[in-house]
Amino acid sequence: MNFLSRLAIPESTEHLALLKYLLVVVTIMFVTYSSIALIASTFSAVLNVLGKREGTRKEGDTGRAAHFLRFARDLADLAAPGKGVIAALAFLPLVTAVLIYAQLLKGMGLGITTYLTIAALLYFAGLFSVYYYKRSFHFDSIYSTFRRLATARSADVNSDVAADIESFERSAASTKRTAGRRGAIILWLATWVYVGTVRLSFSSGRWADSSFLTVLFSGSTFWSLLNYVVAALVITSAAVLFFFFKFEGGIAVKTEDSYRKFVKGYVLPVGIVAVALEPILLFFEIQNLPLTGVSNATFGIAGIGLFIALMILIVFYSMLRDSRANFGTFAFVGVILLVFVWAMKDEIAFNYATRVQDQHLGVAYEAMLASLNPNKAQPVMSGEDIYNARCSACHRFDRKLVGPPYFQTLPHFVGKMDSLEDFINNPYSAVPGYPPMPNQGLKPQEVKNVANYIMGVYLAAAKKGEAKVVQ
Ligand code: HEC
Repeated sequence: MNFLSRLAIPESTEHLALLKYLLVVVTIMFVTYSSIALIASTFSAVLNVLGKREGTRKEGDTGRAAHFLRFARDLADLAAPGKGVIAALAFLPLVTAVLIYAQLLKGMGLGITTYLTIAALLYFAGLFSVYYYKRSFHFDSIYSTFRRLATARSADVNSDVAADIESFERSAASTKRTAGRRGAIILWLATWVYVGTVRLSFSSGRWADSSFLTVLFSGSTFWSLLNYVVAALVITSAAVLFFFFKFEGGIAVKTEDSYRKFVKGYVLPVGIVAVALEPILLFFEIQNLPLTGVSNATFGIAGIGLFIALMILIVFYSMLRDSRANFGTFAFVGVILLVFVWAMKDEIAFNYATRVQDQHLGVAYEAMLASLNPNKAQPVMSGEDIYNARCSACHRFDRKLVGPPYFQTLPHFVGKMDSLEDFINNPYSAVPGYPPMPNQGLKPQEVKNVANYIMGVYLAAAKKGEAKVVQ
């Protein structure tokens, strides 16, 4: 997606931070909806087949078969509520995410925006198919009602019309079968690509080999996918409880008790097993996190996630115990919080993985500002100010941060201030085991100032025997 990266213009670090928050917001919207679409359409397609089979097996007893088909239809409605919802919760967030990644990862040569675009196209194709599936579900029930009426009053119905009704019914039923299955399969592919791509975006250790194949077939993609699917089961269970029983009176409220019992008996055990699996998967997920992405914040956030998962477990369980209990709203708010926590965890890892890239972009931004206004003399900063503002993000004197400790590197430059200034002016790969240092875009006088400042601090410390590196 070269043209996308050309669209991106240099932005200040504040803007980049803002974009990352925007990414969290669109991720929450998208993940909540797309995981419901994935699970609801899959279960719907399966229940549709089961309902048909059950119906033909036991001609007399159609109650269970009817429940299967009814549930399949309601799930299809949940997966594809309407074009507006699909546009707002899938189309817009995905396009936004592609553009944000194009901006944040500009010039890194990673395929992430391309892969995300592939995922987006798959999602659109899958959701389109699921939307057709849902439509043909409704047409199918309308036609079959008509057919029954027409058969009952065959004397009043023109035989051509009766034949038409039958053929429309057959074609709706066949669209229903194929579109449902196709939609669900495409959504699974889309999820696979999406999860693998997001995972790659914060696995800086894998950036050297970031081909599409390694995105699809790596261990960490596998774990992320498993995690995503289990979380999607939890989210969808809660969404069913909320939308079927609570939201605007619920869609299942108007129906018989037996259907409501059927739905709860189906959804609650799935939700409970899935939410109980969360801690185990989270453990593996953290073990599998790229080392660069693990920080205390990640663990803190994961802890909060576990707490929310426990709350959801309690809500599900009490609904299972007491069939009249209806905590659908709690459950749904709980899963949205859970998605928020998960998105934050990924954002922290991504933020950490791209910290050097952010510096590059910040420098590019300042270079652009300077080129816009070449004549304006900007004030020259003192060495200490430059160190505090620009270098201390990555360097300490006595400790390894992103860059090596000055107490380790500066001894090589004693008496060679020219080489030190050259390096700061134009960094090259020097110290093994570190990523390259981004050019800081300083003015010649500023390079001199900061070089003198850090060397002065080092020499003073060395004199007192304090220039030691701590671990
Ligand atoms: C984005 C992080 C980052 C920033 C900001 C940064 N550095 Fe570095 N610095 C590094 C890394 C990484 C290395 C190791 C580079 C290498 O060896 O390839 C490094 C290496 C160095 C070295 C050692 C070079 C050598 O040959 O031993 C010096 C000196 C240095 N930086 C000075 C500075 C100064 C002065 C500033 C502020 C004007 C600064 N750095 C800002 C990341 C940074």
